[in-house]
Amino acid sequence: SADVRSFSGRPIIIGGGIAGLMTALHLAPEPVLILSRTPLGSDASSAWAQGGLAASLGVDDDPVLHLADTLAAGDGLCDAEVATRILHAAPNAIETLATLGVRFDRTPEGALLLALEAAHGRRRIVHAGGDGSGQEIMRALVEAVRSAPSIVVIEGVEARRLAVEDNTVRGVWASCSMSPVFLGTGRVVLATGGIGGLFLDTTNPLGSCGQGLALAARAGAVLADLEFIQFHPTALDGPDRPMPLISEAVRGEGATIVDETGRRFLEGVRGAELAPRDVVARAIWKHLSNGHRVFLDGREKPGPTFARQFPTIASACRGAGIDPARNLIPIRPAQHYHMGGVSVDRDGRTSVAGLWACGEVASTGLHGANRLASNSLTEAIVCARWVAESVAGSPIGLRTRSKAREIPAPNPLALRPLLSRTLGVKRDGEILRAAVSTLLPLAELHDAASDPAAVGLMIAVAALLREESRGAHYRTDFPDHAVVARRSRLTLDEALATA
Ligand code: SIN
Repeated sequence: SADVRSFSGRPIIIGGGIAGLMTALHLAPEPVLILSRTPLGSDASSAWAQGGLAASLGVDDDPVLHLADTLAAGDGLCDAEVATRILHAAPNAIETLATLGVRFDRTPEGALLLALEAAHGRRRIVHAGGDGSGQEIMRALVEAVRSAPSIVVIEGVEARRLAVEDNTVRGVWASCSMSPVFLGTGRVVLATGGIGGLFLDTTNPLGSCGQGLALAARAGAVLADLEFIQFHPTALDGPDRPMPLISEAVRGEGATIVDETGRRFLEGVRGAELAPRDVVARAIWKHLSNGHRVFLDGREKPGPTFARQFPTIASACRGAGIDPARNLIPIRPAQHYHMGGVSVDRDGRTSVAGLWACGEVASTGLHGANRLASNSLTEAIVCARWVAESVAGSPIGLRTRSKAREIPAPNPLALRPLLSRTLGVKRDGEILRAAVSTLLPLAELHDAASDPAAVGLMIAVAALLREESRGAHYRTDFPDHAVVARRSRLTLDEALATA
């Protein structure tokens, strides 16, 4: 930990996924410190991304068409100005990744291969290794970061609290190889990913349990749109946890969704299997609740080319004793992505001075109430540049000297059943109110072990306050849209007072 302290004063990036690594690379040559809980590339949900990155690169495409699909999927809640800016920058972001050495799938002539995913009106998903996009991007970024002299990466460090005075960041308390350490700095970027570890059924690494949300919330930051949690419709329904993801790109290649009788029960839904993700997830959930079994049928399409096009998925299926070119694949929805997060402005600045957020932990306004497929890596990569420019252009800021102190690790295990039951595909006021009462005394403990309870409480309060159904937030007691779509904002103090 003596080593760690010697890097005090640099901007600190918390998180070693795509958002964190890209921010560090864009900051170069400014010295920066990345804190990663695990060895780089081993546990970031970025590396698990299958589909790829959405960008309007096709000859028949345009950022305006990409924007229209994003706004439609977002169900009236996207910030159109933010979305316009991000989606116009998307094609360049792909170019940046290619320059950094990402080997995207291409035609023999060298043109990028573009896949189709749900609710996209055009083929615009850039991918690598078929369904290994996240892994290939992480490979290239980890290599670039390791060879950048300005970037120091410390692995095995978990940030536990931000030191904040006068609404301004002064440092980070962390646990480094089980020893406590304090790092003074006036500039911190949260790039900690999502909240899958708060749920029983998730496609995310279980280590992602809302640490960045808790750090920001305990520092007094404003969080936004927390009630919007995306459930991916097609997780492989087997014994493995986290659940293996079956990319939407498989449906983009023609796979269908059927029940045990072979009926395509989504046929009556606008867009059918390629309707927005929240619509498909809800339809599957309802069918399962009515006692049916639900399967993905890839036997005809992609059929014999399944394993070649989707090697990661084919291997997960084989692990469960399924040959996806010959057998139906049992599926169910699973927690996949958090649209809500720490509220940020166009440069990724949060409401706390000296604190930025990038990637899934941030809420930029791009995704609205339901994220369009493959817009998440695009957002992380595009926004990392703006965050880095903003960090580089900000004064270094005061930093505090403080004693290292032991702060316990967050522990979400006991809360998973409650949060899964309460904050799933369908919510209900009475159940939400009961969960808020259970979570309140835990969240009030104010130690880091109770951080998952604080995050869960904030999400439950946000879900309770949104008395409408929109995008991924479905209330059985308020099944309709409100007349006016409003984004939600919440601090921890407000959540505690409301509860
Ligand atoms: C998928 O490949 O279906 C997931 C992509 C995403 O989450 O956007």
